[in-house]
Amino acid sequence: MSFELYKNKYEQKGYGVEYPDGHVIRFYERILKYKLNKTSGKLLDFGCGNGTHAKYFKDKGFKVFGADIVPSLQEKWNKNVGDDSKYFNIRNETKLEDIIDEKIDVIFANQSLYYLPKDILEQRLSSFYNICNENAIIFASMMSSKNYYYAHSSKSDGWFRSVKLDGRLKENCEIHFINTQKELEETFSLFKPLFVGDYDPINFYDFEGSAHHFIFIGQK
Ligand SMILES: C[S@@+](CC[C@H](N)C(=O)[O-])C[C@H]1O[C@@H](n2cnc3c(N)ncnc32)[C@H](O)[C@@H]1O
Repeated sequence: MSFELYKNKYEQKGYGVEYPDGHVIRFYERILKYKLNKTSGKLLDFGCGNGTHAKYFKDKGFKVFGADIVPSLQEKWNKNVGDDSKYFNIRNETKLEDIIDEKIDVIFANQSLYYLPKDILEQRLSSFYNICNENAIIFASMMSSKNYYYAHSSKSDGWFRSVKLDGRLKENCEIHFINTQKELEETFSLFKPLFVGDYDPINFYDFEGSAHHFIFIGQK
């Protein structure tokens, strides 16, 4: 589902942020740089989209890798990030351990992991753990049930909810929502929580509503 949705979005609608999101800049400036003194190393951007965030981290001094399910993103990645930085076109069946042969220092998964079925998310988290150096950092954002997507969703299979949006975004997708901070920490329990929070860049109460996401920042 997310494959078809994003293939269509990137190829026909030209979806993708052009500049890094504010919470990503704050993650780098406040957490990686100021709190953890981590300004270099290898960073994997999982669900990297068009590579805008990977390019930001590359400019800051990281060696970046990107992974996404949309094959045509390779072209956007090469243009935005440079073909000296590796883009991996993955399917849910692809094992990250088989394709990434360097140890990673930062896993960055912005607004991508909530599209994964339960078993795949569990496999991905365990792969993240395996491909990381000791003390590596993970950043993951998860859509919360305060998000307006939730208001347009109905129960699907107990893990996903089916979302149907008209208007600006006009899409059908399946999302796994996180309800509480406790649930977030349980989801990422392979990693030691360092900073747990949330962001809601915009909330037009009478228009779309909240864009609330949780953020988990943890350490191996
Ligand atoms: C909301 S976009 C976020 C893109 C990028 N991380 C950003 O911050 O701009 C979600 C991304 O997750 C990717 N994605 C969706 N399902 C995926 C899956 N099962 N495995 C890997 N990537 C996936 C999509 O193709 C898309 O690029």
